[in-house]
Amino acid sequence: MKAAVIGCGAQGRGGHVANYHKIDDVDLVAVCDVNLEQAQTVATEFGIPYVYSDYRELLDKHNLDLVSVCTPHAFHREQTVDAFEVGANVICEKALAVSSAEAAEMIAACKRHNKKMSMGLQNRGSAEGRVLKQFIDEGGLGKIYYTRVVSGHVMNIPGYSVFHKKGLSGGGVLYSTAVHTLDLANWIIGDPTPVAAIGTIYQKVHHMKNPLISWKGTLEDFETEDFAAGYIRFENDSGLSIESNWLTHPWKIRPQIEILGDYGVAEIPLKIFVDQGNQVFDRTPKITESGNHFFAVLKDFVDAVREDRTPIVRFSQMLHVQQMMEGIYQSAEIGQEVQIG
Ligand SMILES: NC(=O)c1ccc[n+]([C@@H]2O[C@H](COP(=O)([O-])OP(=O)(O)OC[C@H]3O[C@@H](n4cnc5c(N)ncnc54)[C@H](O)[C@@H]3O)[C@@H](O)[C@H]2O)c1
Repeated sequence: MKAAVIGCGAQGRGGHVANYHKIDDVDLVAVCDVNLEQAQTVATEFGIPYVYSDYRELLDKHNLDLVSVCTPHAFHREQTVDAFEVGANVICEKALAVSSAEAAEMIAACKRHNKKMSMGLQNRGSAEGRVLKQFIDEGGLGKIYYTRVVSGHVMNIPGYSVFHKKGLSGGGVLYSTAVHTLDLANWIIGDPTPVAAIGTIYQKVHHMKNPLISWKGTLEDFETEDFAAGYIRFENDSGLSIESNWLTHPWKIRPQIEILGDYGVAEIPLKIFVDQGNQVFDRTPKITESGNHFFAVLKDFVDAVREDRTPIVRFSQMLHVQQMMEGIYQSAEIGQEVQIG
């Protein structure tokens, strides 16, 4: 299968190019970056024959089966839809888009052209998530009534990308970092339909004493949020709270996911406790499997195309996660709960 990568920065190179390289029947024929020198460097490193600075040219010149979209979020919709138009299947990096309307447009284009679509959500490749999802799917926790998501970095706003620029990324810690954990939690609890969101966001870095600036530029260039919190209500009457923070204090690190069900509680990193009467039973299995989680998700996409099956990341999950994040941003802006969908 012929593959190409659009955007040769940190994730395009390290996530997509490097891992396509490890899949036998994938022929990585071309890469593209508006920074041609960047694309050329990656092409030389991995022996890729064609290099472009214009993604349209790349799409038009090769009869591609697989396209990875690894550019800033604001370009995802256009590049993904255009790739479907030329008959390719697409794995798009997170965040899928900068709005749920854009996400819906991408999904509609995928369906219209009868193609496959997935996302660069490597947490889906973790055995811990898979095992907990199965435990819950089999009814081990009973009905899930509450999920708590905590995500971010410890005192570190990532500076290698453009996550701090609103026009290019659409949002900050929520769109760029917490999306991974939110997606994992949503997948594990069975992708319930979100109906309402309430949220609040802050730019706390502006109030710190001597903040660490890891991006090229100054503090004034930081335009997105470094803290976002929200509460989501689902159609099935359960709820989810999320706290995402790039400035987490080192001694305030908590489980990434906590799930409360009628029969017990589970967490990621993996812990499962089931209650009976006043007794608590530890049902945490031993997990020995480890490995390259990003490779697993990319391989799933390639296999889904080859086998004509649905990839691990489903349309409704992509849309629900985007809707939840957008709902939190919208609620934060107007200071009220917003309806979703
Ligand atoms: N899955 C993960 O863990 C993970 C990690 C980091 C980044 N990402 C995602 O990957 C994507 C890229 O992030 P990054 O960290 O690699 O950023 P980056 O800034 O390192 O790389 C982005 C690249 O895209 C190029 N580019 C910008 N506009 C373009 C356009 N219109 N056409 C072609 N190339 C263009 C830039 O020149 C740059 O080289 C984002 O969606 C980001 O959220 C995912």
